[in-house]
Amino acid sequence: MGAAELPRLTVIGTGYLGATHAVCMASLGYDVVGLDVDSKKIEKLQAGEVPFFEPGLPELLSKALESGRLRFTTSYAEAAEHGDVHFVCVGTPQQPGSDACDLTYVDAAISNLAPHLTRRCLVVGKSTVPVNTAARLAGLLRELAPAGEEVELAWNPEFLREGFAVDDTLKPDRLVFGVTSEWARERLSAAFQPILDLGTPVVVTDLATAELVKVAANSFLATKISYINAMAEVCEATGADVRDLAKALAYDDRIGGRFLQPGLGFGGGCLPKDIRAFAHRAEEIGVGQAVSFLREVDAINRRRRSRTIDLVRELLDGRLDGKRVACLGAAFKPNSDDIRDAPALDVARTMHGLGANVRVYDPAALDNARRTYPELRYGTSALDVAQDADVVVLLTEWAEFREIEPSALAKVVKHTRIVDGRHALDADTWRAAGWEYRALGRP
Ligand code: UDX
Repeated sequence: MGAAELPRLTVIGTGYLGATHAVCMASLGYDVVGLDVDSKKIEKLQAGEVPFFEPGLPELLSKALESGRLRFTTSYAEAAEHGDVHFVCVGTPQQPGSDACDLTYVDAAISNLAPHLTRRCLVVGKSTVPVNTAARLAGLLRELAPAGEEVELAWNPEFLREGFAVDDTLKPDRLVFGVTSEWARERLSAAFQPILDLGTPVVVTDLATAELVKVAANSFLATKISYINAMAEVCEATGADVRDLAKALAYDDRIGGRFLQPGLGFGGGCLPKDIRAFAHRAEEIGVGQAVSFLREVDAINRRRRSRTIDLVRELLDGRLDGKRVACLGAAFKPNSDDIRDAPALDVARTMHGLGANVRVYDPAALDNARRTYPELRYGTSALDVAQDADVVVLLTEWAEFREIEPSALAKVVKHTRIVDGRHALDADTWRAAGWEYRALGRP
């Protein structure tokens, strides 16, 4: 297909999802305009700077900018003029004080774009939304766009994981096209042609199903993690070992070992808020019972945080106040600087609140952590925060923490006690080096 035949794309919202999508689509040969209402973000991106930590993305952004196929704007008029297919990638956070999803940004994106849509085009939602939002937005578009019925809406959920965002975008497991016409399906196919050419499976479906695929997928993943963490609680009460249990379960192909890592549980900008919003939405439409287990999944996950603190307390003979605690990790997972709903920082802050003298180190998330939680103390390396520590707590399983030499760490701490919140270390090695080693769900 020649470049002339490729639809011109816009990406509205240049956060994690949108910036990655815009850059990747430009790298595939599309002419892309990225839009955000945050002019600082736009200036950074236009200058070749990715405003968050994502391996591989800065290089791809530079190349895309050089190619002339990618530019950024804050003008909806410019985006509307450019795009044949408009991707909406704005955030849908949890509403403060509620489990519901906050649709302010999605509504604003549609309401601001629509008045400029004067010709036939496709608007494609990628944001994670409560089921039946798309149908409402389709009506809003038709009402506000001068081109009226000529403007169609489709839904195309995104499954990218932070840290693997480029690969997940360029080589996704599957594409989901939620459409209401053959024209919309054809337009979406044209917008993903190079990815379809790789043999990527496509599920073509209606809008509601496409919206649901995303929350159903994230709910399943969250449930799998909480399942193994529930087993960890049973192991704790019985002297069994959840690591061996998970290993044995994983050999069953029907179960599989991915997302079966026990430990401190899930956090981040997606899984926690998505399961809550899903449960909330299901209750609104009268099928709350069908997914009431998601409340339990959430509760199990939250308990991992308090149980981790219990383990630390046990190692300290029942008292946290005045004790020096070295926290390794702040990001919600390794290879990320994202601290949204980060279990690591939740644990660190709670221990701080209980009077412990907490110091935190993370290879990438320190700036974000410092900005959001200035009350905590931070250090420059694992060895730095472990200086004179009464206990070391591993909270995010960065490779550099896995590689720490027990003997090197032993030289700087006051007491050789470690809680491995992520099952990242070899218990035998640490015990052999004289450490008191504890992990959730293990004897
Ligand atoms: C997730 C989904 O994986 C992705 O498909 C979706 O598009 C967005 O949400 P992400 O939030 O980037 O992606 O993180 P992910 O890698 O899925 O990890 C989520 C959390 O689960 C992390 O806090 C991680 O530490 C935890 N986790 C993951 C476990 O505790 N155990 C596991 O076995 C796997």
